Amino acid sequence: EVINNYFYDEAAYDYHDAGYVPLEEPQTKQRPLNIPDLLKPDKETATDMYYTIVAQTGEVQLLPGKKTKTWGYNGPLLGKTIHVHLVNHLPEVTTFHWHGLAIPGPIEDGGCHAPVYPGESRDVTFKINQPAAFVWLHAHPCPSTGEQVWHGLAGGAIVQDEHEAALPLPRNYGVDDIPIILQDRRFHEDNQWDYRADYDPDGVAGPTPMINGTINPYFDVTTQKVRLRFLDGANRREFRLHFSDDLEFTQIAGDLSLLPHPVKMTKLLITCAERQEIVVDFGKYQPGDVVTLYSDDVPLVRFRIHEFQPDHTTIPQDLFETPDPAADPDLPVHHVTLDGMDEAVAMNGKKFKMDRIDYKMPLHKVQIWDIENTNPAPGMIHPYHMHGTAFEVISRNGHAPYPNELGLKDTVAVNPGEHVRIKVWFNVVGVFMYHCHIIEHEDGGMMAQLQVVDPADPNKKYHLMDHMTL
Ligand code: C2O
Ligand code: CU
Ligand code: CU
Repeated sequence: EVINNYFYDEAAYDYHDAGYVPLEEPQTKQRPLNIPDLLKPDKETATDMYYTIVAQTGEVQLLPGKKTKTWGYNGPLLGKTIHVHLVNHLPEVTTFHWHGLAIPGPIEDGGCHAPVYPGESRDVTFKINQPAAFVWLHAHPCPSTGEQVWHGLAGGAIVQDEHEAALPLPRNYGVDDIPIILQDRRFHEDNQWDYRADYDPDGVAGPTPMINGTINPYFDVTTQKVRLRFLDGANRREFRLHFSDDLEFTQIAGDLSLLPHPVKMTKLLITCAERQEIVVDFGKYQPGDVVTLYSDDVPLVRFRIHEFQPDHTTIPQDLFETPDPAADPDLPVHHVTLDGMDEAVAMNGKKFKMDRIDYKMPLHKVQIWDIENTNPAPGMIHPYHMHGTAFEVISRNGHAPYPNELGLKDTVAVNPGEHVRIKVWFNVVGVFMYHCHIIEHEDGGMMAQLQVVDPADPNKKYHLMDHMTL
């Protein structure tokens, strides 16, 4: 069976929103898709790896003419105990959040309680103990996450494990295993970005697709099968992905794990902060052909087909066993509401407050959470995200989840009027945020934080900031 729809309520697609900015095909020359360099460790021992990550200003030739002023990090990462030296060379305070890593909060996690001031640095050490996935690093200084991500502070990181490594899947980085970071921007005078000018409390968007920081990219296909690791790194845009010729492809993974079984499809919707991994088989094409990836009818990436060796591997029917621990009978269903639009956004009727803990949850206990989007249809889809955990989607308004969300996730899109139930558990302690990942909704207060309590140390105190001065 091949899935031919986007699953979500069409009435809620972002193009129905009054502030919708349609994507437009760039009129510039096609350029090779930028493949972010793999970050090299500064030092590596048998058990530990050390990295330096610098947030810095820069300039990139995105369009012909003037270079665009951008902010950035120095690239993606890989497994073991990671020691990261975080350096801020920006003119304002930032934080370094590992979206998708189950590491302690609030410091290692890098949410708003872990500031790094201009010219300063911070060292964090953590162990990655979770299934193979594509995660990401982004700035998270509340309430300026939207602006800093718009400036360019986002990067991918690939977590590997032995299980995934043993499967017959493409994993030659840059050749047949390609990160595809989907974003959009508006270029103002002299090719510059102007977040304030484009500000919209329901999410900032621009008409120009930007893929891995490339405008109008192409990719040279030299293998029959290519794995694409999509990350929606846009502030508010959903991408409705499909290929020319309605080419069928296979989804193999979601945010934080492989899917239990591969899902064949021709259409794939990705909302903010989600990751979706697919394998595309270009077997029926000839050298010289071009296969185009679109969102709606706007081309995002052109795949230029070259000679390749025939590839007879098949994707295994069983990819992953999603852990499904029983919910603790002592923990009642926990309700979260995603409320309002524009400046009025809130969670459970309240705006986010940095020095308020909204909820406490015992370490390792499993609880059902009910996430409700209280916007009536045709409101917006809210992509609901939790730090520090990998959850399982168990139902949508009482129905089974979509087949491509049966692995572990950290972000789940909730339709207007819908209740999505998820199973939540934490294997690390600390203070963690949960929020809508339309970044302006998060910055606007559709966010809360919980404390994961270790029964061995129930009174542990965390230093919470009450505000952040940029
Ligand atoms: Cu992508 Cu609060 O995070
Ligand atoms: Cu996160
Ligand atoms: Cu939202």
